[in-house]
Amino acid sequence: MSPKLNDFSVGLLVQMCLTVNELDSAADLVDAMLRKRPQDAACHAVRAFLWHRGGDARAADESMGRARAIDAADPLVCYIAGRIAAQKGDTDEAVRQFSRTIEGLPWFRPPFGLLDKLLFPGPDYMDLLEQIHALLRPRVYLEIGVNRGKSLALSAAGELAVGVDPNLSRCSRSSVSHARLVEAKSDEFFARADLHAVLEGRPVDLGFIDGMHLFEYGLRDFINMERMCRAGSVILIHDVVPCVPVVGARQRTTRTWTGDVWKVLLCLARHRPDLDLTLVMTSPSGLAIVRNLDPSNRVLADKLPSILDEYTAMTCPGYNYAADTGIRVIPSGHAGLASLLKPVVEARAR
Ligand SMILES: C[S@@+](CC[C@H](N)C(=O)[O-])C[C@H]1O[C@@H](n2cnc3c(N)ncnc32)[C@H](O)[C@@H]1O
Repeated sequence: MSPKLNDFSVGLLVQMCLTVNELDSAADLVDAMLRKRPQDAACHAVRAFLWHRGGDARAADESMGRARAIDAADPLVCYIAGRIAAQKGDTDEAVRQFSRTIEGLPWFRPPFGLLDKLLFPGPDYMDLLEQIHALLRPRVYLEIGVNRGKSLALSAAGELAVGVDPNLSRCSRSSVSHARLVEAKSDEFFARADLHAVLEGRPVDLGFIDGMHLFEYGLRDFINMERMCRAGSVILIHDVVPCVPVVGARQRTTRTWTGDVWKVLLCLARHRPDLDLTLVMTSPSGLAIVRNLDPSNRVLADKLPSILDEYTAMTCPGYNYAADTGIRVIPSGHAGLASLLKPVVEARAR
């Protein structure tokens, strides 16, 4: 290898070789690096990746074994191990490795994109929302968390749409000109003396909770929203699936962050078994569909202090936390969505 090449140039050259599928040239460069630095974990991991790309699984395992023996927590080693696991179809191992990468390099974007493809194939949440609007045709729609107004814009065909957000400066007013916008935190909005007047005294048919990404806010939004609904209404809750545990933590440390809104779903499954809960694995962070609402139910409100004690300190077990909880988990684009929402539409027509 030319002595003029520093490590950075070698890394770049390896990357360039990979983009034109010149695996042998890439391997020569990495092997030369390894002769200089036999204890470099990342270099062994890159070598494993090249073996894997070349179809030699055994040599890839050996190189990855060496990388891990030197430093199993190196974020690059974890990233490459995650990519190899993903290509082998081992989702759990890929998620474990990408999770460690994200913990080490929280602002590095590639693992997020790969996790998205692995965990959330199918239509993204905006497509799903569009489909739900088309199926339910809600007359009254209430949204908590408007931001630019993209999801609120989907409600134009209804009779009344209300969007609530403490910061409406980013909202594209032209795309939501049909909607009533309220610049307030959701707690303030639900505490308004004229709340019923804002909703024209009508029950909410479809509610969308997408405001502050913390458990207590999401839960209060649900409690307050359900009161404004009727038995056949539906409430959607966004950001209930963190791709890796650190994304579902209360403190934001990562590029993508769901916060601990996922606990709302867990809490509903435990404390409101009368509700019907479906979790759609839609990009970028899942969407919950809550049916069988009961606007007169006070269980959550009455138990709120003990529920907050129970859940606030809980840490995220991972994207599949809903397994064995009674929550129905379906992929996005699942044909069953229409039949799930059909009874709601039929009940409203009666
Ligand atoms: C993820 S964005 C909403 C995106 C939007 N629903 C969409 O899909 O196009 C979250 C929004 O929640 C708002 N937000 C933060 N705290 C809130 C609160 N306490 N009540 C209502 N909205 C809040 C933020 O200002 C932000 O605009």
